[in-house]
Amino acid sequence: MRIDVVTIFPEYLEPLNVSLVGKARARGLLDVRVHDLRRWTYDRHHTVDDTPYGGGPGMVMKPEPWGEALDEILGTATSPAGTTPAAGTTPAPMLVVPTPGGRPFDQELAVELSGAPWLVFTPARYEGIDRRVIDEYADRLDVREVSIGDYVLAGGEAPVLVMVEAVARLLPGVLGNAESHQDDSFAAGPMSHLLEGPVYTKPPQWRDRGIPEVLLSGHHGRIARWRRDQALARTAANRPDLIARCDPSSLDAHDRAE
Ligand code: ADE
Repeated sequence: MRIDVVTIFPEYLEPLNVSLVGKARARGLLDVRVHDLRRWTYDRHHTVDDTPYGGGPGMVMKPEPWGEALDEILGTATSPAGTTPAAGTTPAPMLVVPTPGGRPFDQELAVELSGAPWLVFTPARYEGIDRRVIDEYADRLDVREVSIGDYVLAGGEAPVLVMVEAVARLLPGVLGNAESHQDDSFAAGPMSHLLEGPVYTKPPQWRDRGIPEVLLSGHHGRIARWRRDQALARTAANRPDLIARCDPSSLDAHDRAE
């Protein structure tokens, strides 16, 4: 997968050299390119923002640097939403615009993004990017405006780090054990609307605390049921909204399957 990020703070993306994403890059599974938006400015101050039309507080990112940057990075790539390019042509990029006004980022969207061959992220600062930029590229690309949560950050760079990590760990070969994201909270499957319960490792006794007996029993059916019960209790406590989306029959089927 190729990932391009256009930002006025390229150094903010340095964590993409570390840990899971850094290793995936080193192994050639991910091609990440970070671009400084100011490369496409030509005045002495490398200006990227201006006052908003209609008045109001804050500044808006100017369309020209974004347009030039995206034209150069995207080249001639086009893909009206929902279509795939012909064999042998450059894969169609998906443009991901982090904004608190976007659709919520969740595991389902992470899975969808992980299936794209090429993602281009446009993290903004200030009050956001001149709307014409998004409209311009939405005419020829699959453009997604995405929010990582109901709070306002100072810019889209931290959301890009969040989204790239969530996507990268889903790519084939990135996680050591190909199965290891299947049990994640929010992963598709019979427990899809439940949060993961508690986990334990050695030593069996730490301070005055032991391990729940059932986990030492070797009884896979009882362990699965205990994990399901723990997941349900945690979900009820922390995310009662998810319980409402739970299909009780699928939980019973899960129990029987163990
Ligand atoms: N930019 C600022 N806040 C944001 C958020 N919550 N999600 C995505 N981009 C943002």
